[in-house]
Amino acid sequence: SLEYLQSYNIILKLTATERINGFSPTAERPFVLGLPTGSSPLPIYKALIQAYNQGKISFRHVVTFNMDEYVGLPREHPESYHSFMFSNFFSHVDIDSKNVNILNGNAPNLREECLSYEAKIKALGGIELFLGGVGSDGHIAFNEPGSSLASRTRIKSLAYETIVANARFFNNDLSLVPRMALTVGVQTIMDAKEVVIIASGTSKALAIQQAIEGGVGHLCTLSCLQLHPCSMVVVDEDATMEL
Ligand code: GLP
Repeated sequence: SLEYLQSYNIILKLTATERINGFSPTAERPFVLGLPTGSSPLPIYKALIQAYNQGKISFRHVVTFNMDEYVGLPREHPESYHSFMFSNFFSHVDIDSKNVNILNGNAPNLREECLSYEAKIKALGGIELFLGGVGSDGHIAFNEPGSSLASRTRIKSLAYETIVANARFFNNDLSLVPRMALTVGVQTIMDAKEVVIIASGTSKALAIQQAIEGGVGHLCTLSCLQLHPCSMVVVDEDATMEL
């Protein structure tokens, strides 16, 4: 229902704005925010842009780390996560682009790229709030089924289900979907002080059921949040169908 959807968006907006404003970030002590791509977070980006336009929030002292990026897709490609983040969020708020961190899937040394991403997060004192979505197979970021729950930022081959799900962004042509991505690990997400996962639609219902009512395991990496001391899964009505 509309009412349900409204409260879903309000929860998300309040979580991010309250955490950032409550932290009172400064240049010396910025708020470190982990961010996702995908269709599920779009309403929260819209709501945060609106809050910014109303003067209720500033991103001047916010440092962001995106969850993942495709390997080999040019940065300027409209479906790169870099393009997605700038067109849906960063270009509309007062964030300093120097404070935006997105994995470079075209780096000459991908392993080095992943290691330095982890080091940068650590140097800033860790991620305060990690927002994320979930894949229909229960993955968070690109931590596909089978990912170690102790994993850190690394190269990952995409599961066939993910390639099929993401083909909608590539003219429904499976051959155009990148086969590999760089992604933060399950442990990178677990290290954040707070994690908020967003899921909407019936295609997420099974993943939500497994993650919340099933056991903790590497076949549904979202399930790791059962062990996180401060995490929340925000779902719309359709995503609760299997609960
Ligand atoms: C991709 C991203 C995930 C995201 C998932 C779901 O696989 N790597 O971080 O959670 O898509 O996307 P959507 O919200 O569009 O269903």
